[in-house]
Amino acid sequence: MDKPSREAVAGAMDAAVKWVRECRSLCVLTGAGVSAESGVPTFRGPEGLWKRRDPVSLATPEAFAEDPKEVWEWYQWRRRKIRGCAPNAGHRALAAVEAVKPDFLLVTQNVDGLHRAAGSRRLAEIHGNIWTVRCVGCGAERYERGDFTDLPPRCGACGGLLRPGVVWFGEMPFAMERIDAALDRCALFLSIGTSGAVYPAAGFVQQVRHRGRAHTAELNMQPSEGATLFAEAHYGPATQVVPAYVEKILGPGW
Ligand code: APR
Repeated sequence: MDKPSREAVAGAMDAAVKWVRECRSLCVLTGAGVSAESGVPTFRGPEGLWKRRDPVSLATPEAFAEDPKEVWEWYQWRRRKIRGCAPNAGHRALAAVEAVKPDFLLVTQNVDGLHRAAGSRRLAEIHGNIWTVRCVGCGAERYERGDFTDLPPRCGACGGLLRPGVVWFGEMPFAMERIDAALDRCALFLSIGTSGAVYPAAGFVQQVRHRGRAHTAELNMQPSEGATLFAEAHYGPATQVVPAYVEKILGPGW
C-alpha cells in the first residue's frame, strides 16, 4: 500500500483541525492526571495512592462497614492534601472551552473539586466529590470543607455515620444518563489525564467510536490502556497539552 503523500497528510490534519474548531458538541473526560500538577496524587502513578494503600481496604462499602475510622483517617488525609491545591492551566483551559461551546459536558473521575473551582459548571462528577458527606442513616447530605475532630464523624440530625460523598468500587457511578446522552451527541470526545483502567469511564471512547460520528483525542502523560482507540493523541503534562489543544479548538489567543 502506497504511503499517503505529504499533501494528503496535511489535508487530513487540516480537516481534523477544521472539524475540532467548528464542532459545537463536545464531551470531555478527565482523570487524576489533570490535577497532578496541582499537587493531587494520582492513583496508579509512581507515587500513586494505590501504590501505597490497598484500594479494597479503603474505597469499598465493605471496608467502610468493617472499619469506618480507618477509612475516614485516609479520607481526612486526602482532604487535607487537596485543600491546599488550586486549579492549574489545564483546568482553566477546559473552563474556557465551556464558555464558548454551546453543547459541552465535562465528565470528571476526580473528586477534588478543582474543575468547579476553575469555573466549570457543565460538569458531571461521575465519582462524586470529596467535599460532600452523606449520612448512611437518614441520607442527609452536605458540603463540608472543614476537618472533622472526631472520626468517624456522625450526622447531626440522626446520629448516623457520615460517609465521604464519593463513589466506591462496586457502587454505581453518578450522572450516567446525562453522560450517555452527551456521548451520543458529541462530535468531539476528549480524554485527558486518565489511565483508562476503570469502567465505565474507560469504555466511553468505545461507545463514541461505535456511533462513528465523532473525532476522538487522548491527552495524557503517556499512552493509556485505551490509547489505540483514539484517532489523535498528544502526550505530555496536562498544563501544556491541554491549553495547546484548546488553542486548536478555540483558535489562537483564546
Ligand atoms: N499530565 C497529564 N497526564 C498525567 C500527568 C500530568 N501531569 N500525571 C499523570 N498523568 C497520567 C498518567 O500517565 C495516568 O495515565 O494520568 C493518568 C492517571 O491515571 P490513574 O492514576 O489511574 O487515575 P485515573 O485514570 O483518574 O483513575 C480512575 O480509578 O482509583 C479509581 O476512582 C479512582 O477516579 C479514579 C479512577
